[in-house]
Amino acid sequence: MTSAPPKTFRIKSFGCQMNVYDGERMAELLGAKGMSPATDGEDADLVVLNTCHIREKAAEKAYSEVGRLRREDGSKPLIALAGCVAQAEGAEAKSRSKMIDMVVGPQAYHRLPEMVAEAVRGARPIDTDMPAISKFDAFPKRKRANPSSFLTIQEGCDKFCTYCVVPYTRGAEISRPWKDIVAEAHELVETGAREIVLLGQNVNAWADGGRGFAELIRNLAKVDGLARIRYTTSHPADMTDELVAAHGEVGKLMPYLHLPVQSGSNRILKAMNRSHTVESYLATLEKMRAARPDIALSGDFIVGFPGESEEDFAATMNLVDEVRYASAYSFKYSARPGTPAATMDGQIAPEVMNDRLQRLQSRILANQLAFNRASVGKDIDVLIERQGRHAGQMIGRSPWLQSIHIETDAVPGDIIAVTTTSAGQNSLAGAVRERAAA
Ligand code: 5AD
Ligand code: SF4
Repeated sequence: MTSAPPKTFRIKSFGCQMNVYDGERMAELLGAKGMSPATDGEDADLVVLNTCHIREKAAEKAYSEVGRLRREDGSKPLIALAGCVAQAEGAEAKSRSKMIDMVVGPQAYHRLPEMVAEAVRGARPIDTDMPAISKFDAFPKRKRANPSSFLTIQEGCDKFCTYCVVPYTRGAEISRPWKDIVAEAHELVETGAREIVLLGQNVNAWADGGRGFAELIRNLAKVDGLARIRYTTSHPADMTDELVAAHGEVGKLMPYLHLPVQSGSNRILKAMNRSHTVESYLATLEKMRAARPDIALSGDFIVGFPGESEEDFAATMNLVDEVRYASAYSFKYSARPGTPAATMDGQIAPEVMNDRLQRLQSRILANQLAFNRASVGKDIDVLIERQGRHAGQMIGRSPWLQSIHIETDAVPGDIIAVTTTSAGQNSLAGAVRERAAA
C-alpha cells in the first residue's frame, strides 16, 4: 500500500547516549530532506523508534511501542524500527509486526531518507548491514547544538564480555577519523556547545593511525570557545597512562570518570571475561586520584550474574564503599539471547537478584549522598543547561557532573560562579557568586 510522503516526524530514543546522538543526527538528516519535527502532542507522519537491546525484554517492549502507534481511527504513521533491537531482530521484525514499515540498524542510518521513500511506495525495506562507508559522512552539518553536546567518536566493541549483546548489535570496534571528529567539534562549538561529551561503547579505545584517545583530548582542548570535555564509557583495560596523565594536565577535561567494574569478585569478573581484576581496577583508580585528586568516580554494576554467590556479592558491596563512588549505575543481570552467559550454569533466581539490587542501590545512594554533601560550601563553576521547574530557576552541572539548581538570570550555555548551599541524593542547590568571564 502506498502512502503520502511524510511531512512531520518524531524520533523516540531509548537506552544509551549513543542512541540519543544517533536520534539527533537522524532528525537533522530528515530535516535536510524537508521534513520537520512534530510538535508536542501532534501526530507525526513518520515515527522512528530508536531502540535499545541491552537488557530485559527489549524486543517485547519495542513491539508494544509499535502497537501503541495505532491511531483511534485505525490509521497509523509510517514506522521505522531503528536501533539495536532492529539490528538484532532483522527481518524477523517485519513478520512479528505488520505495522513496521522499515527496519534500520544503527550502522545504516544514512539510508533512512531513501528507505522512507521506498516505504511510501509500499515496500518494506530493511537494512541491517554494517558497511565500510560510514553513516557519519551522510549526516548534514550541525545547525544548533546543546550547551552540552554529544559527539560519537567510536562505535562497537571487540571485548565480548560474556553477558553483553553490544558486540553483536553494534558490531566490531571502529574509530571515526581524527579529522572528522575535530571538524564536528568545531561545528558544535560554533553552533552553541560549551561542553562536548565524547561517546563510544569503548571510547577510550579510540585510535586513528598512531594517535590515541589522550592525544585526541589534548587536541580538542585547543578548540576556542569549548570549555569542557567529558567522555563515556570506558573500559578499565584501555585506561592508559597517557589518558591518566591528561586528566592531571588538561584543565578542560572535567574531573569525572565513568569506569564500569561490573563486579567486586575476581571469580565473577573472570566468568564475565572482563580482562581486569578488582586489584588492577583499584590500581587504575589510585593512579587517577594521584593525577587528579578531586576526580569523581562512577561505575556500572551487574548483580546476579550466573554463579554469583552471596560471598561474591559481598565483595561487590565492599568495593562500592572502598571506591566511594560519586554515582553508579546498577542492573540486574539479564540473559541476552546468543551471549555465552545466557546458557551458563547457576542462573540466579529473580527474588535473589531483586534483593541484591536493592541492597546495592542503597549502598550506592549512601555514597552518592556523602559525595554530594561534601560538595556543600564549595565555590564552583556551573554550566547552565536548561530552565528549572519555576521561573528564575535554572539547572546546570558542576564539574563533577552533579545536577545543580540555582536562582539566576543566566541562560543555557553560560558558565557562572556558584557557591553550593545544600545537597540531596540526586542534586545540589547553589547561589550565584558572580558571573564568571565566560
Ligand atoms: N544484563 C544486565 N546488565 C547489562 N549491562 C550490559 N549487558 C547487560 C546484561 N546482559 C550493563 C553493564 C554495562 C551497562 C551499559 O549495561 O553494566 O556497563
Ligand atoms: Fe559490552 Fe563488555 Fe563491550 Fe562494554 S566492554 S560493550 S560490557 S562487551
